[in-house]
Amino acid sequence: MEYRGAHLAFRKRWKKTDIDLCKHSMSFILHKTLRNEFFASYLYLLEQIPLVKLYPVTCEYIDGQKQFYARALEFYNDVPASEEGMMGDFVEISPIDLEGSRQFLRKFVGGPGKAGTQCALDCGCGIGRVAKNVLLPVFKTLDMADMMEEFLLHAHEHYLGDGADRIQTYYCFGLQELTPPLKKYDVIWMQWVACHLTDKDLMLFLIKCKASLKPNGVIIIKDNMARQGCKLDHIDSSIIRHLDIMKRVIAQAGLDILGVEKQEGFPEQIVPVWMIAMQ
Ligand SMILES: C[S@@+](CC[C@H](N)C(=O)[O-])C[C@H]1O[C@@H](n2cnc3c(N)ncnc32)[C@H](O)[C@@H]1O
Repeated sequence: MEYRGAHLAFRKRWKKTDIDLCKHSMSFILHKTLRNEFFASYLYLLEQIPLVKLYPVTCEYIDGQKQFYARALEFYNDVPASEEGMMGDFVEISPIDLEGSRQFLRKFVGGPGKAGTQCALDCGCGIGRVAKNVLLPVFKTLDMADMMEEFLLHAHEHYLGDGADRIQTYYCFGLQELTPPLKKYDVIWMQWVACHLTDKDLMLFLIKCKASLKPNGVIIIKDNMARQGCKLDHIDSSIIRHLDIMKRVIAQAGLDILGVEKQEGFPEQIVPVWMIAMQ
């Protein structure tokens, strides 16, 4: 990997720092917490954002709530339950996005050795834009998971129409707290939500997703990927990772990558979006 040399050098320094530093100093505690939370990308984050600034947006707890997640909740409280809300300022690219997803999904589902079509889980589903247009046409039943009750209610009562009859369970949870049922899903879809989990929580969630797959089942992450390193967005409390960093988190979760593809047809000025299939 391009950054591997720097990463190893940094780890070596770390070992020395751990021993040399006073273990009770604030600096040590900050470093340790950040290292635990962002074991794959901390190097890039540290390079771009001063540690003291980074700490409150990632690892700080106020009233028992991790601020990284509390800020995302605050952000989505003001987001309308609509396609515009789910797509930010880019609702016009939704049809291209959905077509790209349908084509990518087809490669891994239906047919010998591929995932079945019984049941899928849509993680960070929002109002069900992906569920309605990509997953419901393929799978007999779906489960949906999102931290925002308002989005799930809108999905069930309005957006999904008759498709709502085929939703078995709505999980109103942050993914960092969700344990999906064992061996239930043929496909687990995560679109524009991996960016809302810390490296550590993403890895832990992927491990649980792996246990939640049926034989030949597949997890698909579709997300913005940074052109370089990692970028933390303070407004919606998300991290955009370079594809290599995302692959590293996936490997740490013990998953094998089956396919990686860039979403084509998006305007040049927006962050590249990639799809990764794994099992
Ligand atoms: C940009 S929207 C994308 C929605 C949907 N995946 C789509 O492509 O239309 C991000 C969604 O992730 C949800 N979300 C953000 N952080 C989350 C978390 N930690 N756990 C579960 N859902 C989360 C938000 O509530 C929102 O519905």
